[in-house]
Amino acid sequence: MESVWMEDIKIRRREALPGDMEAPAAVIGAGLAGILTAYYLKQAGIRPVVLEADRIGSGQTKNTTAKMTSQHNLIYGWLIRAFGSRMAEHYAMANEAAIGEYERLISEKGIACDFVRCPSYLYSRTGAELLKQEAQAAQSLGIKASFGTDCELPFSVAGVTRFEDQARFHPLKFLAEMAEEVEIYEQTKVLKVEDRKVETDRGTVTAEHIVFASHYPFINVPGYYFARMHQERSYVVALEDAGRPKGMYLGIDRDGLSFRTCGNFLLLGGGSHRTGVNRRGGAAAGLMSAKGGVGDRYGMLRDRARELYPGCHEVARWSAQDCMTLDGLPYIGRFSRHRPCWYVATGFGKWGMTTAMVSARILTALIGGRDCPEADIFSPGRHFTAKAAKKLAVHGAYTVKGLAKHLLPGGNKEIIPNCPHMGCRLEWNPDEESYDCPCHGSRFDSKGHLIDGPAQTDCRKKIQH
Ligand code: FES
Repeated sequence: MESVWMEDIKIRRREALPGDMEAPAAVIGAGLAGILTAYYLKQAGIRPVVLEADRIGSGQTKNTTAKMTSQHNLIYGWLIRAFGSRMAEHYAMANEAAIGEYERLISEKGIACDFVRCPSYLYSRTGAELLKQEAQAAQSLGIKASFGTDCELPFSVAGVTRFEDQARFHPLKFLAEMAEEVEIYEQTKVLKVEDRKVETDRGTVTAEHIVFASHYPFINVPGYYFARMHQERSYVVALEDAGRPKGMYLGIDRDGLSFRTCGNFLLLGGGSHRTGVNRRGGAAAGLMSAKGGVGDRYGMLRDRARELYPGCHEVARWSAQDCMTLDGLPYIGRFSRHRPCWYVATGFGKWGMTTAMVSARILTALIGGRDCPEADIFSPGRHFTAKAAKKLAVHGAYTVKGLAKHLLPGGNKEIIPNCPHMGCRLEWNPDEESYDCPCHGSRFDSKGHLIDGPAQTDCRKKIQH
């Protein structure tokens, strides 16, 4: 089923790349990050060419809940401890500025995209202390934050951390208008990137600067992003006749949910789990439905919806796939010191709206040779924290397990395919009827056709049911 954003939007189709060409910059990926980066490059006098394998906005931009906020779960206390106040402030202010920049662009260009300023909240039903600390940490960095107990949700809470002047909007209405500003080639799949050459199935683009804004970088070496990120899936149901809170909410407890009003609907989200880990005892074990089904995250959300808003109706459901970095901060900047003209924007976690804007501003500054003090905290080469080391060990364990399993026969006489990315055994995802890779998150439909990278090809082996 498609997201609510897809219902009332038509984005103008573009031609495929007509053949070989040269351009000052090539941007791979026509989602929010790619198109915004291309827009600001053009403003800076650097002509970009955007290459999109499918259609504009056909990747993760259409699956977001489109919360535009600097409130990225519990982050500021940890950021201050791990990187110091100055770097933490750069992170906070870059994200706050991103909201303001969206508002400026929307107003300047008269884009009708349902932009609304609203507060954003973290809530907990079990404890207030972490929320108080987060509010204090955010305040100390210049964010208008406070702790309280007032809440519009239909249950009592131990506390909330409130950020003022955050926002929500319709991401595809915005994207459709911004896409009119830049040169985009659709149905143009990038096959290989070598030095300054981007080789596609339609021709080659030779560019001084190359930006990877295609969600998960598909190049393994250099950069080694596959070793530094995993992917997570999360689920959303759109409800009619449910509450319509003015604020946006995210629970910090293990079974916490996301709430966000969208016109007459409420978007209720949750059930997040590592892509490819669907079994009891896996990372998603705590997120089973009330009925105890393995998987069935939509079932869990429906049960919660009925319990919280009796009489509500589901009008849409969809899921999102997010790239998660080792320390929870995105990777924005130079791709690798071995490729000085390559740039990357990835690992946005659940915070793609503000991070897309932050990426566009930072990458444009770096490519234009301008100073950008806030770039350091987002740099893919930033220092390695204890948190990152712990995640690296977990990530490594999943990869070893996934690689080891490909040597075993599949259960139920089913031929379970191996992932064409690096060979891990795929897992069946019953919620979405897809084969998902627990190593780095590639996904394939029941026939083995590629849905999400970093894999670049379909599964070679036919799946038999
Ligand atoms: Fe890397 Fe499957 S995504 S092995």
